[in-house]
Amino acid sequence: MKALIRTIPDFPKPGIMFRDITTLLLDAHGLAQSVERMAAAASGRVDLVAGIEARGFLFAAALALPLKAGVLLIRKDGKLPGATIAEDYALEYGTDRIAMHADACTPGANVLLIDDLIATGGTARAAVRLLRKAGAIVTQAQFLVDLPDLGGADALRADGIDVTSLVA
Ligand code: PRP
Ligand code: ADE
Repeated sequence: MKALIRTIPDFPKPGIMFRDITTLLLDAHGLAQSVERMAAAASGRVDLVAGIEARGFLFAAALALPLKAGVLLIRKDGKLPGATIAEDYALEYGTDRIAMHADACTPGANVLLIDDLIATGGTARAAVRLLRKAGAIVTQAQFLVDLPDLGGADALRADGIDVTSLVA
């Protein structure tokens, strides 16, 4: 799986080693294996799979089907048409704001958080804050790729989340 992910140096800024999963997405077997392994790692009842824009959407939708769950979109601020709640966060290369529809989940819903990659954890931690603000129960998050040197997975664990990833 690691061999299917390519590294592009200096994208989107000098000094960033960008782990590009588009090459894994192009590979039918690699994509199927990724989704199967992520689905197998999910535990307990999952009502909703929350995917983070943009690459997280792909895995969230694919996982929701075998888990028989719905998909909740966590988007960059300004993209969702209904009333939203939002959270600011710091990225490895800048700052941003994510949002979800305020009524997207019933309080007490079990939500599995999905993204393609965790680096500093800023995005995922903001997503957990958002989901919890909406009343969701969030105890697990899954990523295709973890960049452990950046500490995001450990920070997310400290927030009470069971974190798994397929590639480090
Ligand atoms: C990437 C990745 C994660 C986030 C991880 O998304 O898909 O969402 O960065 O970084 P962090 O752990 O340091 O927060 P990006 O913001 O590049 O957006 P994109 O998926 O829309 O390209
Ligand atoms: N998101 C944050 N840091 C990243 C990296 N190094 N490669 C791919 N996506 C990222």
